[in-house]
Formats: sequence, structure tokens, C-alpha cells
Amino acid sequence: MIKITQIPPNITNCLKVSKQVIGSLNGEIAAPFLIPKEKVKIPPSPVKLTNSSLFSSLPKGQLCAQSGGFGVLAQVRLAHTDVQVPDFDFYRKKELRDPARPSRDVIDNYKGGSYLIMAVGGIGAAYAAKNTVTKFVSSMGAAADVLAMAKIEVNLGDIPEGKNVTFKWRGKPLFVRHRTSDEIQKEQSVDVSSLRDPQADVDRATKPEWLVLIGVCTHLGCVPIPGVGDYGGYFCPCHGSHYDASGRIRKGPAPLNLEVPPYEYVDEKTLLVG
Ligand code: FES
Repeated sequence: MIKITQIPPNITNCLKVSKQVIGSLNGEIAAPFLIPKEKVKIPPSPVKLTNSSLFSSLPKGQLCAQSGGFGVLAQVRLAHTDVQVPDFDFYRKKELRDPARPSRDVIDNYKGGSYLIMAVGGIGAAYAAKNTVTKFVSSMGAAADVLAMAKIEVNLGDIPEGKNVTFKWRGKPLFVRHRTSDEIQKEQSVDVSSLRDPQADVDRATKPEWLVLIGVCTHLGCVPIPGVGDYGGYFCPCHGSHYDASGRIRKGPAPLNLEVPPYEYVDEKTLLVG
């Protein structure tokens, strides 16, 4: 038991607070944490952990592994040779349980399964690759609304005989010409072998009375003027190319005939280009 007789002035405030809790500081208080000096046990200073100190601490007669080196933490481990390996025979196929039996004796039994897995995997990979490529390629193509704009319908009833009407198709001028019987006869009688770009009139006009052309000069891309020129077809004023009433180059620097776009007749009076 300790008796407090004098209280230093600098802890007076602390004691005022503590006094409310403890009750009586001027009396005797218990000191349960005081341990007699002779009963205090001081632990021994730690042994320096080296290879040899660790090794000497191992139980004698045990197989152990030791590793260490310059700048490497020393390790000494017991080799656990007494650990039992679990028996997995329950999970093994009957013919694979014998560890002395070579695998080549039983491999044929499993080839079918292996081939099946490879085939299924190959089909899956091919399907995934095809989908990926299709999506990638279709993303680069024109959208459906753009494709719809790519076709143009022409009412042939609006084009009188002997006239050429110009439309706009895919950003280019499109010529649709209602040819007269004289023009048809004249173009069909041309000697094809005398042409710069030999092509018969029947190969350029599905119906002889209708000629459909892209109005872009094959020289440098000017737009030819219909109904003029030395051959009564088209004339390009840029450098003086003359085309006949079948759109074939007859005179001037242009190397090729005017292009015929893809087209079809929906009915007698309707032409669909594109
Ligand atoms: Fe037509 Fe040159 S662009 S003749």
C-alpha cells in the first residue's frame, strides 16, 4: 500500500479530475501493478539468426534442407518425408491406375475424345472468326439508307423520242436518251472493228430505243454535251472528244466509250438504274 502525502502543484488540476473518479486521493490506494524485483524475469538476449544457429536448433536426426548465401536470408527447413500422398485412384480411369503401364498402350482409347474436343474447338473458333470478320467488313460498307439512295427510278414516259434527259445518280450525271429509229439503224450498222474501243451497239443498249450512259468523259472527266458533235451523239468541249449516239468514242483524245451503268426495266415505262 502507498500513502500519498504531498502533491506537486503542477498536477493539481489532474488530481481534481481524478478525485471525482477515485473518490479519495488523500487516503491509501492499492498498487496492484507493483511486482517485487526478484520476481521479474528478463528474457535472454536473442540469438543471432545465422545458418549454423538455425541448423543447430533443429531436432537431431531429422532430414533437413539448408539454404543461404551472401546477402540472402538464411533458411533451414525440415524435409517432410513422412507426408502421405493421397490416393487419387477413385478419380482415375481403371486402365490408368497402374503407374507402370506405358501411356502408349491406352492412348488409342482417348484419341476419339481428343479429336472431338479439337473439332468442336476448331468449329467454335471458325464461327467466332467468321462473325468478327463479317461485322468488321459490314461496318465498312454503306448503310441501308445510303444504298437505297444509290438507285434511281426513271419514268421513261416523260422522255420524248429524240431527246436526252440528264439525271443525277451517285453524284454523277446520268444520260437517258430516247433514240429515234434512224439513230438506232445508224449505230447498229457501224463497223465495230473500226472503233477505238470496239463495242457493238446491241451490247450497250438492252432495248435499242433507250440508251443509258454515265455522262463523264473518259478523257479527263468533263461532262459531254448531248446531241452535238460530228457523230450526233455527245461532244466534250474540254478537249474535243466526239461520241456517237451509242456513247462510243469516235474522235478526240478520250480513250474509251462512255460508261454504261447497271440498270434494268421494272416495266415498259420504268427504268431502275443502280
Ligand atoms: Fe473530255 Fe478531255 S475531258 S475531252
